[in-house]
Formats: sequence, C-alpha cells, structure tokens
Amino acid sequence: MLPNLELILAIESSCDDTAAAVLSGRKVLSNCIANQSIHKTYGGVVPELASRAHQSKIIPVVDQALVQANIDKNELTAIAYTQGPGLMGSLLVGGAFAKSLAIALNLPLIPINHMQGHLLVHFIEEEGIETPQFPFLGVTVSGGHTQLVLVKDYFKMEVLGTTLDDAIGEAFDKCGKRMGLDYPSGPQIDKLARTGNPNKFNFPIPNMKGFNVSYSGVKTAFTNFIHKETQNNSNFINENLNDLCASLQYTLVQIILKKIEQVAKAYNLNQIVIGGGVAANSELRNQLSNRKQSHQWKVFLPPLKYTTDNAAMIGIAAFYKLQEKQFGAITDTSQARLKY
Ligand code: KG4
Ligand code: ZN
Repeated sequence: MLPNLELILAIESSCDDTAAAVLSGRKVLSNCIANQSIHKTYGGVVPELASRAHQSKIIPVVDQALVQANIDKNELTAIAYTQGPGLMGSLLVGGAFAKSLAIALNLPLIPINHMQGHLLVHFIEEEGIETPQFPFLGVTVSGGHTQLVLVKDYFKMEVLGTTLDDAIGEAFDKCGKRMGLDYPSGPQIDKLARTGNPNKFNFPIPNMKGFNVSYSGVKTAFTNFIHKETQNNSNFINENLNDLCASLQYTLVQIILKKIEQVAKAYNLNQIVIGGGVAANSELRNQLSNRKQSHQWKVFLPPLKYTTDNAAMIGIAAFYKLQEKQFGAITDTSQARLKY
C-alpha cells in the first residue's frame, strides 16, 4: 500500500449528502456517499432532518471509506472536513466528528471551503481527468451556488460574478417541483428533456449588466405559465412534460452560458472549468463542448461521480493544504457563509 504518500480522510457534510473519502496523494482510494432520501417527502432539504441524518450516517460512511480504501485509521496522515459554506447543523456534524477523530488519533485537521473543493476535483489524479493550468475561469453550478470565479491558484480565487437570487440548481429543483417531480429534480429534468423540444416554449433570458446572473425571473415566468396553462387544461403538464423540461433546461443553461462567454472574453480566459451538481447536466455539457472549436476554449468537465457533493473534492483540496502545512485548529468554527 503506497507507503510514502500522505493518506487523507476527508469528510463532507455541508448539505444533504454524508460523504467520506480516502486519498493517497492525489489519488482517490475510496469515495463513499450516503444520500438522504428523507428530503423527497418534503420536496426540498429540511435542515433539521439533514443534521439528524448526518449524525446517524457519518460513522458507517467513514467506516465504509476506510474499508474500501483498505486503510486502517492509524495509517492516516490528516483529517479534512468541509468548514463551509452550507447548512450550519449539517456542517457541525462533519466538523465535530472530524475534530474528535483528529484529537483521538493525534492528527492535523484541514478545514476546506466546499466551493473550492468543487473546482479542485479537476486536480485529482485519475484516468479521464485532465488538469487545467492557472489562471482559469471556474464556474460553480450547484443547488446553492452559481458563481463565475477567477482561479489564480489553488486557494486564490476571486468571484467575478454570482447569482443575485436563486442558484441554477435551485431553479431546476423549484420548477421541477411545480411540475410534480421529486426532489432533486435536476437529474429528472435532464432525462425527460432528452426527448423534448427545447424551442416549444419560450422563457425569458434576463439581460443583466456586468457578470452577475439571475434565476428568479425565469422561475417566476415558468410558474406563472404553468398556472395559466393548467387553468385551461388540467392535464397540460402531463401532455407536455418532455417539452416543458427541454425548454426550461435550454433557458437555464443559456443564462449561464451567456455569462461564461462574457467573462471569458473580458478576462481573456480560454480554460473553462466546471464544478458542482449541475455540472452533470447533459445540455450544459453539450453546449460547452460545442464551443471548444467555435470559441477556442478548453473545457474541463468533471466525471459525473465528482459533480454532486462528494468527499473526494474535499480530500484533493486538503492535499494541497497539506503540502503547505496549512492546518486548522480545534477552535475553528463551521461557517454557513464561508467566502472563497
Ligand atoms: O453540488 P450539489 O450536489 O449540492 C450543492 O452544493 O448544492 O448540487 C445539487 C444540485 C441540485 O439542485 C440538483 O438538482 C442539481 O445539482 N443536479 C442537476 C443534475 N444533477 C444534479 N441539475 C441538472 N441536471 C443534472 N443532471
Ligand atoms: Zn456542492
């Protein structure tokens, strides 16, 4: 077992996934995730239920990650955890667990910014992952964030643009809920859209000045449209589900694509690096790939397993902190609104 490389146990618990991973250097030995199905019943994440579920899942998930990696906890070099941003109750469970384990094993602690982790997955050493060069344009698209980030170095990131209201994933989920789809709706909309017509219905693309985006307008337009149509025909959603999904998805993706184009041009960046749950979206992936030639971009799309929340992304970020011996303290607090 690779004796000279550092072994990092990473824990991620910022929202509704309880995740643990073991990395040896930049290689992922295990990447385990326990999803919390309880939130489906409520059509969205219920923070209190998420923290309770983290409490019951964290020990089995960490155990599973160590077993799959074939590592004994006494062989570990450091413990990494998500410090923020995220839901406070969820962050506290992972943070407290990581701190307790670090004290028990007398290991250094490495607190990680979740959003930095989403972008640093591209530095994992694995077949199929190509690593970008600094500086590049990082785009984080998830259920909680939509950000365009100038990435100058592993931990030197400057937010150039962000959503002023809803995140792109939130828009997928809320519009999906309006169509009666389960939470999270993003993956289902993606699937249903494959056989739908993206030009059947038109939803507005906001014309925002600067590098910020907005998703609340399209969400409201979509909700009002559904309301109006179902008054005339109560079966409207069922009869048009695939076209509704395709048209909505097309609009949500165009909003971020337009901004990526503007920012890339303004900052003269030709490496576009995508991270976060919505990076799994096939329309976004296709549209970006189509622009490789026309815009002379190098596009970095993470493998699907590293798009939605996972602990390998926390582990790879921790690897770079470990090289610099940038450790955290037992007194560090979880931060719901941690900035880059
Ligand atoms: O990064 P993530 O797991 O959690 C946050 O940090 O928010 O992202 C979850 C989001 C959800 O909104 C989910 O609907 C969306 O990612 N998502 C997708 C797809 N897969 C996940 N959205 C569109 N298409 C997908 N294929
Ligand atoms: Zn995330």
